[in-house]
Amino acid sequence: MKIETVLAHAGLCTDAPTGAVSTPIYQTATFRHPALGVSTGYDYSRSVNPTRQALEQVLAELERGDRGFAFASGMAALTAVLMAFSAGDHIVVSDDLYGGTYRLLERNFKPFGIAASYADATALEALERAVQPGRTKALLIETPTNPLMKVTDLERVIALGHGLGLAVIVDNTFMTPYLQRPLELGADLAVHSGTKFLSGHNDLLSGIVVARTPEWSERIRFVQNSTGAVLGPQDSWLMLRGLKTLALRLERQQANAAGIARWLAAHPAVGRVLYPGLPDHPGHAILARQASGFGAMLSFTVKDPAQVERLINRVRVITFAESLGGVESLITYPVRQTHADIPAEVRERIGVTDDLLRLSVGIEALEDLIADLEQAMQ
Ligand SMILES: Cc1ncc(COP(=O)(O)O)c(C=O)c1O
Repeated sequence: MKIETVLAHAGLCTDAPTGAVSTPIYQTATFRHPALGVSTGYDYSRSVNPTRQALEQVLAELERGDRGFAFASGMAALTAVLMAFSAGDHIVVSDDLYGGTYRLLERNFKPFGIAASYADATALEALERAVQPGRTKALLIETPTNPLMKVTDLERVIALGHGLGLAVIVDNTFMTPYLQRPLELGADLAVHSGTKFLSGHNDLLSGIVVARTPEWSERIRFVQNSTGAVLGPQDSWLMLRGLKTLALRLERQQANAAGIARWLAAHPAVGRVLYPGLPDHPGHAILARQASGFGAMLSFTVKDPAQVERLINRVRVITFAESLGGVESLITYPVRQTHADIPAEVRERIGVTDDLLRLSVGIEALEDLIADLEQAMQ
């Protein structure tokens, strides 16, 4: 079935006894056992809840994986993935990545003996140099990266990782399985902040892991059940509801993003425009090959640093807020918000500079978005 149909049918008629068209919200912690040693298949909602299960099944289908797992946030999903490793293990991570993931690795997992090194994932030699033979167990890649929109060639990185016996984990938050499916290219795990495009309405937090193989499914299932940061039934339902329109939303959002990127690129006050849909973006050809669109995220620099504050304070249609992927456009200042936990010298080195702004483009009328930016930048 085509992905648009899978999306529109997310959670459709999962409740056989009633025929409910929309998956019911099973707001229950536990389930009655018919007799000693007999189970309905549902024992306790931390292990399996029917509403969460409907969501997890559709996500596995969308990512073309073995099983999906829904968590309370993207960070909870990444935590579950990292908990599948052991003290002494080492992970090589894209150097341009969501600040919360950097903080999780450096502040939470390092003290437990799971170490990370950071490398430019767009340069295979840099990734390979960061691998510590015998100790490195995985590559963790964001592509396109947050916030610099650097594109990694997934096929080549997966071949490199698997050649060295490493698991390959891809944070697919920016693209979603509608545009890019890393597991089809051989990655072992796809991770999402489901808070973003998958839910799409800036109204809930969630995290998703989809495993390609039954072995990885079992590792993640064990962590999900034993540590318990699961997505509740209400939010699972809301996310199923959001997923139904993912294709429509993303098509509109990325058309708007392309329009804004072209407009920004021609604006005299703007420095660099980082949008992989622009033909001169270094990752343009790779993303065109490995994804079916360029997404709705873009970053740009302003020539006059004072412009940053003016712009943030003056936007009216676009909202100054931390997050992305929803139907409403948001503008973010990475150095003070999403990437504040990355040390200043690391940010400078990788290019997350004081003049950089990030836009998550929504479904509003393109003319209104451009007029808003125009008036704010005057
Ligand atoms: C690429 C990426 N991964 C993970 C996360 C964390 O997700 P959450 O905020 O749902 O915990 C974010 C949040 O912005 C993100 O942008």
